[in-house]
Amino acid sequence: MNKKQQQALSVVALVLVLAGLYAILGFMLLPKGGLISKQQKEWREATAVPSDPTIFPTVKGNQKPGVDLDDAFQSTPKAVAQGEKLFQANCVACHGPAGQGNGPAAVAFNPKPRNFTSPNGWTNGYTIADIYRTLSKGVAGTGMASYDTLTPMDRFALAHYVQSLGHFDHGQDTPQQIAALDKEFNLSKGSETPSKVAVPTVMKHMAADYKRPPAIPMPPPGDDSQGARLVRRLVKDPGRTARVLAQVPDWQSDLDALVRVAVADPPNNGLDPGVAGLDARQWKLFQQELAGLAGPTGAGSPPQARREGT
Ligand code: HEC
Repeated sequence: MNKKQQQALSVVALVLVLAGLYAILGFMLLPKGGLISKQQKEWREATAVPSDPTIFPTVKGNQKPGVDLDDAFQSTPKAVAQGEKLFQANCVACHGPAGQGNGPAAVAFNPKPRNFTSPNGWTNGYTIADIYRTLSKGVAGTGMASYDTLTPMDRFALAHYVQSLGHFDHGQDTPQQIAALDKEFNLSKGSETPSKVAVPTVMKHMAADYKRPPAIPMPPPGDDSQGARLVRRLVKDPGRTARVLAQVPDWQSDLDALVRVAVADPPNNGLDPGVAGLDARQWKLFQQELAGLAGPTGAGSPPQARREGT
């Protein structure tokens, strides 16, 4: 090896070392929770209710009957089947159809969604009480959100289904752990919350109802283009989607803005949770198709307006 070659080699080595350092540092500095949860957070912050004491979030009053803890902790075929149904609807985008943590949206998260088939790496643990706690509170700083809108029995059903995906010993909760869970979430007593709605909120709703945008029209039945198929598959509630989009004026031109609202809160935004699994090309198609259907003037202006306008 002559001198020139040696020099060239040491330059290559230096570049490799620097690249390695950069990758390691970059990884350490990456925000926990990854892309989507950051977007979700920004979206929540942007749409948060301002803190005026006369303005508070609406609380829908409800009576939750107490839970029979013996039932709840018992894994029955019925509970597992119910859990599976809920899992397919709410969890597969991230955790994957077999719970291996490899759903289509998993790439966006750091840390990655848990692999339920392995006993390794669990943050809260995998007994029924542990999983119940995860579902009720989420895991802070990660993509795992709280599912406390599900009823307690639905959360227990999910916990049993999650356990059924992993063929390892999940352990038993001790009576003390069960009692602690009961106390933390008021399970056996149930709870009663009175409704409260702030007056400005009522007025806002009335105003919103008044200029409620029309529902996004669905593609005509004969239209079998990819865009049309995407819209039919993903827009579950065209009225709701129109209302959500109406709050994001730029969604027709700004793809990031559309992605943010779309993945922020399905199915509450009228979209199928499957949106989280779209790839870049499908997002573009979805945006174009929706924009075409909604028309140039708003989230859901009727098709006639679109024809006259162009
Ligand atoms: C948006 C993506 C996403 C969705 C949807 C999601 N999860 Fe998760 N989940 C995660 C991530 C990310 C983690 C890893 C958290 C961590 O590292 O502690 C996780 C972790 C978990 C854990 C393990 C917590 C622990 O102790 O490590 C459980 C159990 C769980 N999820 C259940 C569910 C269930 C059940 C659903 C559906 C109701 C669901 N998840 C939906 C992203 C998601």
